[in-house]
Amino acid sequence: MSQPNVMFSYFILMMSAFITIADGYYCYIMDECLYSSHDLSDMVYLQSYWFNMVMDIQYNSTLGKFVGLTEYGEHVVEGWNRNLNFIQQMQAQVDTYCKPNAQFLETALRDKAVQPKVMLRSVKRAQGKHPAMLMCSVYDFYPEQIKVSWLRDGEPVASDVTSILEMADGDWYYQIHSELEYTPRSGEKISCVVDHASFNKPMIVDWDPSLPESERNKIVIGASGLVLGIVIAAAGLIYYKKKSTGRILVPH
Ligand SMILES: *[C@@H]1O[C@H](CO)[C@@H](O)[C@H](O)[C@H]1NC(C)=O
Repeated sequence: MSQPNVMFSYFILMMSAFITIADGYYCYIMDECLYSSHDLSDMVYLQSYWFNMVMDIQYNSTLGKFVGLTEYGEHVVEGWNRNLNFIQQMQAQVDTYCKPNAQFLETALRDKAVQPKVMLRSVKRAQGKHPAMLMCSVYDFYPEQIKVSWLRDGEPVASDVTSILEMADGDWYYQIHSELEYTPRSGEKISCVVDHASFNKPMIVDWDPSLPESERNKIVIGASGLVLGIVIAAAGLIYYKKKSTGRILVPH
């Protein structure tokens, strides 16, 4: 995809009118409402006309007209696009059909939404054009639709998002992982941005290049263990030396 910086999990509302014609021909019309922002501002309405698994015609509200995808389709849309009244009706579907239905879906989902847990960490990788890599892992959220993106000094990162992995946990929850490959610059701020139905505004997690607390704790525990070990070993050695010299000096 040409948009690697943003993961779009589109909400799709779909309604199809199925018409089966005799002799096994199959024809249907599909209405789709696509959006990814919770305020529904990026709503796109599509209406596609299919015949025997081939799409002949599609209305796209971003274009504001019908597009013919086959020779037959091209012929048909010429007339349809000239009918301004019809085109206006199609365009109005964004507000009269898509948005009210999406609003209804959003409301129904909102009280079932579960906030994700976000973890940002540095990962190592054998090859790649940049020396450093960060992984933003988002766990245990519902519903599935989510948007994960990156900011570098407040600017959206347009490239070098290397992989995106989405998984269903099998228990109604989902997880998603996004990796950012980058060349570190001193004093910069990198953040992972997560937008989900359970948030009022996107959650921004800043990358802290110092060691995470769990790592620091491990080092503290390890160092304490080492010091304790050295003290015990030294005490043992001193005790052994004293005993053995004592034996040599005072023979029976
Ligand atoms: C609708 O049209 C816009 C503008 O040309 C385009 O970016 C988008 O991909 C189209 N959507 C579909 C599903 O074809």
